[in-house]
Amino acid sequence: MSQWHFIARLALLTSGPRDIRVRLLDRMFVISALTGMTYMLSLPSALPQAAQGTEGVSGQQAFNNACRTCHMVREGDNRLGPNLYRVVGRKAGSLPDYAFSSAMKEADFVWDEQKLDRFIANPDEVVPGNSMKPYGGLSSGEDRKKIIAFLAQPQ
Ligand code: HEC
Repeated sequence: MSQWHFIARLALLTSGPRDIRVRLLDRMFVISALTGMTYMLSLPSALPQAAQGTEGVSGQQAFNNACRTCHMVREGDNRLGPNLYRVVGRKAGSLPDYAFSSAMKEADFVWDEQKLDRFIANPDEVVPGNSMKPYGGLSSGEDRKKIIAFLAQPQ
C-alpha cells in the first residue's frame, strides 16, 4: 500500500465516527433547546396572567412593577437607585460606586427581610431623609413578601 492510499484510508476510517459524533451533538442540541423551551413555558412568569391583581403574580413581576423603574438586581448595574444584587445581608448604603444620600450612608444596619419589609412599606420610617423618591410605599404585605423572597433568592 502506498503512503497516499494509507492516508486516504485513514481519512475514511476517521470520518465515520466523527459523523456520528456530529449527528449526536446535533441531536443533543435539539433536545436541550426543547428542554429549555419547556422549562421557560413552565415558569409562572411565562404564563399569561388573568388580571393585573396581585394574586398569581411572581416575585419577579411584583419587583418589575414596583421597583424596576429605578433598580436592577444585576451586580454593578446602578440606575437611579443602587443595584439590589444580594441586598439581603448587605450593609445599607455601602456600595462604593453609588452616590447614596448621607442618611442612607450613615444608616448603621444590614438589610434583612424584616428591615426590607418595613423600608419598602414606608422608607422614611426606616431611614429618615433617604432619597428613594418619588416612591409611594408598597401597602400590600403580600407583594412585599414576594419581592423580598425574589431579592433573597440566590442571584
Ligand atoms: C423612584 C425610584 C425608586 C423606586 C421605584 C424604588 N427605589 Fe429603592 N432606591 C431608590 C434610590 C434613589 C435609592 C437610594 C436612596 C438613598 O441613597 O437614600 C434607593 C435605595 C434602596 C435600597 C437601599 C439599598 C442599599 O444599598 O442600602 C433598597 C433596599 C431599595 N431601594 C429597595 C427598593 C425596592 C425593593 C423597591 C420596590 C418595592 C424600590 N426600592 C423602589 C430609588 C427607587
